[in-house]
Amino acid sequence: MRTQQGTPVRREAYQPLAYGVETVDLDFLLDPKATQVSSRLVCVRNPDAPAGPIVLFGEGLELLSLHIDGAEPAAGQLRKTDSGLELDVSAERVVLDIVTRIDPSANLTLSGLYQSRGGYYTQCEAEGFRSITYFPDRPDIMARYTVRLEADAAACPVLLSNGNLLETGNLPNGRHFARWEDPFPKPSYLFALVAADLKALERKVDTASGREVLLQVWVEERDLDRVGHAMDSLIHSMRWDEEVFGLELDLDRFMIVAVSDFNMGAMENKGLNIFNTKYVLANPETGTDLDFENVESVVAHEYFHNWTGNRVTCRDWFQLTLKEGLTVFRDQQFTADMMARASDSPDAAASARAVTRIANVRGLRGGQFPEDAGPMAHPIRPDSYQEINNFYTATVYQKGAEVIRMLHTLLGREGFRNGMDLYFSYHDGQAVTCDDFVGCMAEANGADLDRFMRWYSQAGTPRLKAEGVYDPAGRSYSLTLSQSTPATPGQADKLPLHIPVAVGLIGADGVDLPLQLEGEAHAGDSTRVLELKDASQTWRFTGIDAEPVPSLLRGYSAPVILDVVEDDARLAFRMAHDSDPFNRWDAAQRYMERVALALAAEAAAGRPMEVPQAFGHAFRALLVNASLDPAFVAETLALPSEAYLLERMQPADPAPLRAALIHLSRELGQALQGDFLARYMDLEVDGEYRYHPADAGKRALRNLCLRYMMAWGGPTAVQLASLQFKTAGNMTERYGALAALVQSDAPERLEALEAFHERYKDDALVLDKWFLLQACAWRWSADAPATLERVRALMDNPAFSLSNPNKVYSLLGGYFKANAAEFHREDGAGYAFWAEQVVALDRNNPQVASRMARALEGWRKFTPAIQARIRVVLEQVAGAEGLSPDVTEIIGKALA
Ligand code: ARG
Ligand code: ZN
Repeated sequence: MRTQQGTPVRREAYQPLAYGVETVDLDFLLDPKATQVSSRLVCVRNPDAPAGPIVLFGEGLELLSLHIDGAEPAAGQLRKTDSGLELDVSAERVVLDIVTRIDPSANLTLSGLYQSRGGYYTQCEAEGFRSITYFPDRPDIMARYTVRLEADAAACPVLLSNGNLLETGNLPNGRHFARWEDPFPKPSYLFALVAADLKALERKVDTASGREVLLQVWVEERDLDRVGHAMDSLIHSMRWDEEVFGLELDLDRFMIVAVSDFNMGAMENKGLNIFNTKYVLANPETGTDLDFENVESVVAHEYFHNWTGNRVTCRDWFQLTLKEGLTVFRDQQFTADMMARASDSPDAAASARAVTRIANVRGLRGGQFPEDAGPMAHPIRPDSYQEINNFYTATVYQKGAEVIRMLHTLLGREGFRNGMDLYFSYHDGQAVTCDDFVGCMAEANGADLDRFMRWYSQAGTPRLKAEGVYDPAGRSYSLTLSQSTPATPGQADKLPLHIPVAVGLIGADGVDLPLQLEGEAHAGDSTRVLELKDASQTWRFTGIDAEPVPSLLRGYSAPVILDVVEDDARLAFRMAHDSDPFNRWDAAQRYMERVALALAAEAAAGRPMEVPQAFGHAFRALLVNASLDPAFVAETLALPSEAYLLERMQPADPAPLRAALIHLSRELGQALQGDFLARYMDLEVDGEYRYHPADAGKRALRNLCLRYMMAWGGPTAVQLASLQFKTAGNMTERYGALAALVQSDAPERLEALEAFHERYKDDALVLDKWFLLQACAWRWSADAPATLERVRALMDNPAFSLSNPNKVYSLLGGYFKANAAEFHREDGAGYAFWAEQVVALDRNNPQVASRMARALEGWRKFTPAIQARIRVVLEQVAGAEGLSPDVTEIIGKALA
C-alpha cells in the first residue's frame, strides 16, 4: 500500500483485492548475499470484490522467473507498476510460481529478511514481506503457509518458521533443511523465519483443555542464563488468557526468539515470536526490576496477540489499533493482576494495581499527549498516512488501550468479556475493522456506542472541566462536567465524546461519602461512573451535610486533561486522604507540577526561586508514612517527567524548567535529608534477589531517596551512593546507585562510570544503560562538561554502532528525547547534531531515523527564539537528498 513519496494512503479508499491467496508454499535457499526465494501461490478470485488483476507488491526484488499455471506470461499479461506487478488472468483460480533473489547482508533496514550476528531473521509487519517476494502483501489476504528453509548447517544449525515442524534433513555441501507448516490462515505480516546458531530453553506444559504444548525460548548460547524469566512470563501469560478470557494456545509449539538487531520491541509472528533481546533477557546481575517487568509485559503482549491480532486480524493498516490498543489493554490488565496476586492483603493489592496504572498513565502523558498536541496528531484510527511505519504510535497503542479500557469501564468486567466472546464467535479467522469490534461490544451488551465511536475518529486530547457547587440549604452538591477537544491538523471542529468519569466525594474527615444522585432511593457506592455524552452536563448529589472535596476521574477513567480549580490546600488534602490511590498520586503530581512550573517562571524571569513550605510538608508526610506501599510512595514522590512538564509550560522553555527541577530536588534533598536517610536505611532488602513487587518497591523508593540525597550532595550522599554501587548484589541497586551518582557533579560519578564500563564492556544490553545514563545526564553546575560533547565521544566507543537500534535509542534517543535542557542548548549545536544523525541514519534504516526525527516535531510549543533555531534544521533536513518516505512525512508535517 505504500505509494510514492508525498501521496498519502487514505482509509476511505479501501477496496478488497480481486484475487486472494489460498495457500503459499515458500522455499528459501539462504545465502548471505544471494538468497533465492521460490514461492507458489494458489490465487483465487474474490467474489465480493470488483473485477481486476492479481496485484502483487514487491520492493527491491530481483525477479528470476514467474509462471502462471506453469506457463510464461503471455505478451501484455504481466505489468510492472510503481509498487510491484499486476497480472491479468481470467480463471477463478490460478497457480503462480515466482522466484526472486535478495541480498540479506545488504539489508540494513531490519525489515524483510536481514542478518544479525551471522543469523537470518525476518520482520514483516507492516510491509516487509514484499521485500522478500512478490505477494499481495496486505493484512486482508489470509493464506495457509508451508515453508522450506535451507542453509549452511554450521552457521545456522537452527531453522525455524511458523507453526509445526514437519521434517528436517541433511544435504550435500554442509547444508541442511527444515520444513514447517502453519495450519492457521494468516496475513503475510505474520510470516517469520529464523536461521541461526541458537540454543533453546524448553518446557512442556498442558493447556487448560489438557493438550501438551512445547514452549521454547531461543537465544545465543551465552545468554541461556538469562531466559528463565521470559519462560516464566510466557507460562503466566498462557494461564492468564485461559482464566480471564477463556483463550487457549492453538498450536502444539510456541517459540520466542531473541535478536540483537531489531527496530521495535517484539513481533507476534504466528507461533514464532521474534523479540528484541532487551525484552527477553534478564537476570539479577544484568537486568533491573524494570527490565524484569518489561520482559513480562512484552512477552504477555506478543502472546496475547495470538488471539487479538492473529486469529482475528486487521482488514487494513488503518485498523491497527484494533489489535494494538486491545492487546496493550490486555497486557496492562495482566500486569496489574500479576502485581495484585503477589500482594499479601487487599489493600496492598489495590496499591499494586494503582502502581501499574500510574506507570501506564505516565507513559500516556509523557509520550502520547505531546504527539496529540503536535503536527502528527491523529485519531487512534488514522484517516491517512504516507508511511505506515510512522503510525506505530503512542496514540494507536497507548490511547488505543485507554479507549478499550473505557469500554471495559462502561460495560463492566462481565459485559466486556461477553463482547470479546461474541467478537471471536463472529470473526475468528477474519480480517476486520474497529467498527466490527465495537459492534460486538454493543450487541453483546445491548449498549448504544454510536457516540463512543468518535474516540476512533477524533484526534487531540479532550479537556474535561469540572465545577462543583455546594448548596447547604438543599444539602446537595451539583457537579457540572464540560468537555471540549482542541483543533488538530485537518480536524478543526470536534464533537462531544462519550466519556466515563469516575467520581468520589471526600468528606472533611477525609472519608469518602456514600453517593446518592437526585431521584435515587438510597445511597450507593462511594465511587460512581458518570457518563458524560454532551458538551456539558450536571449531576446533583443529595444528602451531603458539608461541602465535600471532589475526587474526579478516579483510576484515570478517561484519557483527558482535567481542568479543575484546586488550591494548594485541597491538593495537599487529597494527597493525604484520597481513597483512590491513583488520584492520590495524581494530586501529588499536580502539586509538584504547579510548584515546578512556578519555579521555572521565576527562573525565566531571573528572580530567586523558593519552594513553598506547605509543599515540603505534604511531600514529607508521604515520605515518612511507613504504612504506605513503598512502590506507591516512590511513584508519588518522583518528579513528573520533563516531557510532560514541557507540554504544560506555555511557552515551553527547557532551560528554566531544568533550573527549576534542579532547584526543587536540591531543596527537597536538603530540607528532608534526615527523612530520606532514615527511609533509605530501613528499606534495605536482605537476602537473595528475587523479582517480586514488594522487594522491587523497596528498591525503587530506596533509589529515589538516594537520588534526592545526591541532588543535595554532601559527603554522606556520595558515600552512600558509592558504597551501594560497590556492594550492590543486583543490577537494580548497582544501576540505581550509578544513576544517582551521574545525576550530580560529584567526581565519584566518573570513577563509577568507568568501573561499570569495565565490568560490562562485552555486554551489549547492560552497556545500553550506560550509554543512556550519560545521554540523559543533567548538568548540576555551570562548569560541568556539556552532554553533547560526551555523546559525540561515546559514539566512538567500540560498543556503539549506528546500525544497532538499541544503541541509537539509548545514546541518541536519550539525548534527543530525554534531556531537553541539554539538547535545546542555546547555540543550536544539539540541533545541528540531530540533523546530522537523522540524515546519516536515514541512509540505512528509515524506521530508526524517523523515530529520531520525531524528537523535534513538537517544536512549535517552544519560545519564539527556540522555534527560530529549530526551523533552520528542520528545513535543512527537508532539503537533504534521497530522504526516505518515513522521514519525509515527519519533517513535512512538522513544517506544514
Ligand atoms: N506488532 C508489533 C507489536 O506490537 C510491532 C511491530 C511493528 N513493526 C514495525 N516495523 N512497525 O508488538
Ligand atoms: Zn502489539
